[in-house]
Amino acid sequence: NHTADLVIVANRLPVDRVVNPDGSIEWRRSPGGLVTALEPVMRANDGAWIGWPGGTDEDLEPFVEDGLSLVPVHLTEAEVEEFYEGFSNATLWPLYHDVVAKPEFHREWFDAYVTVNRRFAERTADVAAENAMVWVHDYQLQLVPAMLRELRPDLRIGFFLHIPFPPAELFQQLPWRRQLLEGLLGADVVGFQRPGAAQNFVRLVRQRVGHKTHRDMVYLPDGRTVQAGSFPISIDVKGLEELAHSEPVQQRAKEIREQLGNPKRVLLGVDRLDYTKGIRARLRAFGELLEEGELDVEDAVFVQVATPSRERVEQYRVLRDDIDRLVGRINGDLGRIGRPAISYLHTSYPREEMAALYRAADIMVVTPLRDGMNLVAKEYVACRYDGEGALVLSEFAGAADELRQAFLVNPYDINGMKASILEAINADPKSLNKRMKAMRKTINEHDVSDWASSFLDVLSETKPMHRKQLRP
Ligand code: G6P
Repeated sequence: NHTADLVIVANRLPVDRVVNPDGSIEWRRSPGGLVTALEPVMRANDGAWIGWPGGTDEDLEPFVEDGLSLVPVHLTEAEVEEFYEGFSNATLWPLYHDVVAKPEFHREWFDAYVTVNRRFAERTADVAAENAMVWVHDYQLQLVPAMLRELRPDLRIGFFLHIPFPPAELFQQLPWRRQLLEGLLGADVVGFQRPGAAQNFVRLVRQRVGHKTHRDMVYLPDGRTVQAGSFPISIDVKGLEELAHSEPVQQRAKEIREQLGNPKRVLLGVDRLDYTKGIRARLRAFGELLEEGELDVEDAVFVQVATPSRERVEQYRVLRDDIDRLVGRINGDLGRIGRPAISYLHTSYPREEMAALYRAADIMVVTPLRDGMNLVAKEYVACRYDGEGALVLSEFAGAADELRQAFLVNPYDINGMKASILEAINADPKSLNKRMKAMRKTINEHDVSDWASSFLDVLSETKPMHRKQLRP
């Protein structure tokens, strides 16, 4: 049934499977911003979303949840290991993030990546209406554009990479570099978070595949063109701000500070527990500030929320042990009774609790070693409608392009981070206010729906002879 005029293809479906105590199964909308952004345009265009429902339990039929058409793609246990944990998260993820961990290259993993990408392409070809618009997301699915074009040359195909795209010097290491580039070139538009990433891609296409390029355009021998470009992603600014304003969230924020013992300063880190996030260096910086007497545990506490992630991948296990040990050592050496230096939470929280934490934090510390965008930084700014609070932000996050008024740091420079954290702690409220206002203006001018429509606008302009236009 070729029915959908807009098809979103992503590794994960926008819903989580919840098994109730009585054994019944329920789907709950996952908190991701992507679905919030795309929901209106999906509804207006009989959209469908293709993705993995998580797990390996059963091969589910397409279903409708809360008015959204969802098309599950099944993965076997071996495919979860080789395609998801292996090639996606132990090869591509570290390679694309500046090799902050060592990527592993295994031929079987790539074979599984090809198989799974083909399955995604086939499902998409089944549900996309004639001349439909298809938007493929992220590093797990880079072969889908070309595979899909083979099956359905009538479609307009966009691709967006949510993570960084590495410089040629690193990408070159991949034994399958050419296949990946050719996979992406199946799209009409290839979007990245930052202009430098688009340039890396175009340069590689010229050097490795030998196509003609001019600025962000690639000219294929068959006359088709591929447009690269940067489309920095954002968040649902209004929605989050409203939530932060709500009475229960404000109450909860007060309560959190009380539970922490009403310290003068609450510092906060919020990340998936991932080695790209720079959690280790950040906690060391805080620990040293306590050790050197620049800060006192009676006055300052660091709350670190680390959401469990990819726990079966070796590098993530090692990281978890490292962080457990580091937090234990800092608390053991520097905490006092009822006053741990670091309040460490290895869990994920609902949006309400996150908004309350952002409201409760004086200093938000976001220090990834490399990050495509980092939405936590934007979320913090969205919640600070009071104009208070300070953001310490890594130069190596995409968000640093826009949030110029943050206290920008090099996350490899622990002394520099210590100085910036102190600077943020001691800054006068007026100057903090000025910085926060400027950052709020920036994110208000460009929220996640602007992001989605700017990409889809470029995609719909690529083939003017197209009959169908999306309804706004
Ligand atoms: C990053 C990636 C997403 C991914 C998410 C969660 O943001 O860009 O594609 O879905 O992390 O990771 P997971 O492996 O749990 O899907």
